[in-house]
Order: sequence, then structure tokens, then C-alpha cells
Amino acid sequence: MQNTNDILRVEGLDKAFGAIDVARDISFSVALGECLGILGPNGAGKTSLFNLLDGSIRADAGKVLLDGVDITDLPAHKRAGVGISRAFQVPQPFADIPVFENVLVAARFGGGISHRQAIGFSCEILEQTGLYGKRHRNAGALSLLDRKRLELAKALATRPRVLLLDEIAGGLTEMEGRELVALLQTLKTGVAIVWIEHVAHALTAVADRLMVLHFGQKLMEGPVRETLESAEVREIYLGIEVDDAR
Ligand SMILES: Nc1ncnc2c1ncn2[C@@H]1O[C@H](COP(=O)(O)OP(=O)(O)OP(=O)(O)O)[C@@H](O)[C@H]1O
Ligand SMILES: [Mg+2]
Repeated sequence: MQNTNDILRVEGLDKAFGAIDVARDISFSVALGECLGILGPNGAGKTSLFNLLDGSIRADAGKVLLDGVDITDLPAHKRAGVGISRAFQVPQPFADIPVFENVLVAARFGGGISHRQAIGFSCEILEQTGLYGKRHRNAGALSLLDRKRLELAKALATRPRVLLLDEIAGGLTEMEGRELVALLQTLKTGVAIVWIEHVAHALTAVADRLMVLHFGQKLMEGPVRETLESAEVREIYLGIEVDDAR
């Protein structure tokens, strides 16, 4: 049933690459202030779902609605402008320019603020994501963890309505994981988050609901504990802890 606070609504998305169904009749919605966690084994279609949401691939059928407006046919380069922003599983910074400029470009791209405001806002985000001290380094010289932080910083800089996070917690220390969880909990109030993550303890600390994908299909969607402990979910992970299912 539709919740009036729903920002993102997906109805019956289908996508196949040849014989592989990466999405089959996927429907869900996410409200303002809510985080939907996505789990599923490698190759389940999680990243492909984000590709459908940010317009990098086109659905064979189904709809994507943002604030009730059908954006299914909106080209990828216009989706950030309407509020869909994504932190990629494989970080994609402009490697030859400094961290600060990477975030500034995103802040300007998000539109609606002056250059001067974008500079202040970029500094705030660099503080929040723990990158301020490294702002003058070239993005290409960062460690993988810092490149993941930069992915998140760039996504936040566009001031999203919908924040798509693809495996941003992997490899973090316990302390860094806690900081990330605290940051996402703070951010959550002003945005709808969809978070793909194998690191279950981080995901469950932030997510309000979980959706589990398997072979491109929605296996289950529901409250966090109930979903993690369900027989279906345990079965696809073959009894191993989700954290180790990589
Ligand atoms: N552009 C493409 N062309 C053909 N097949 C693709 C394409 N993109 C993804 N696939 C296939 O679709 C399936 C789902 O891939 P996807 O990257 O969405 O999985 P995932 O759930 O994100 O996995 P992981 O946990 O490893 O990141 C895989 O079998 C993958 O090889
Ligand atoms: Mg993936």
C-alpha cells in the first residue's frame, strides 16, 4: 500500500541480459526518513537494481516513481538533478583532481546553490565523512576505504532525496563502522536511503526494513530481525553468517 511519505516507489521492474534475469517483477517503496536495506548473494541483481534506479540501464518493464512522478524514462544524467544520488560499489572519483574539487563538482552539479555556498557545503561534508584532512590530495592517491568515503561524500554533496549506497561498509574497522552508522542515522531524517550491504551489523543498525534479492527476484521483504532470521534467507546463505557471505 502506498504511504503518503513515500519518496521512491518502484513498480514491477523487469530487466534481463540475454538469459539472465537481473530484475523480475521488483516492487518496493521507501519513505522520507527511512532506510531500506538490501541483501542478497553475489550476482543476485543488487547493483543492477541501482543501475535501473539511476537510469544507467533501462528497464524492460515496470516503473520508477519519485515523489509520485514517473521518472522511468528520465535519462541518467538528469536523475541526480531530481534528487537520486548514488555511491558506487566500485568508487569512481575524478582521480587526477583533489578530493575537495571532487566534492565541489558534485555540490555544484546538484544545483541550486552559489559557488560560495558550495565551497562551505563541501567542507561540511568532508568533515562529516572524515576526509577534511585529506582534501588537498588527489582522489586517485586515496586508499580504497577513503575512496569509499569520497563516494559517499560526492553522493551527499548533490543534496539527494534518495541516497543509493552500494557496499560502502566493507573493510571498515569497528570504529569506522560505528562512525558510518552514526553518520547515516543523522542523515536519514532528510532523505530516503536504499543501502546494499553485506556487513549485516552495520546495515541492521540503520535499516528500518530489509529486502532480500535472489536471482533477480524479491525473495522477501520485512522487518530487519524477522527477515534475517527467516528460513528462506538462512537457506540462500547456506547457514553462513551474512557478514561472511562475500
Ligand atoms: N551489463 C550486463 N550485461 C550482462 N550481464 C550483466 C550485466 N550487469 C550485470 N550482469 C549480470 O547480472 C547478474 C547480477 O549482477 P549484479 O552486479 O547486479 O549483482 P550483485 O547482486 O550486485 O552482486 P555482488 O554482490 O557481487 O555485487 C550477474 O550475473 C551479472 O554477471
Ligand atoms: Mg553489486
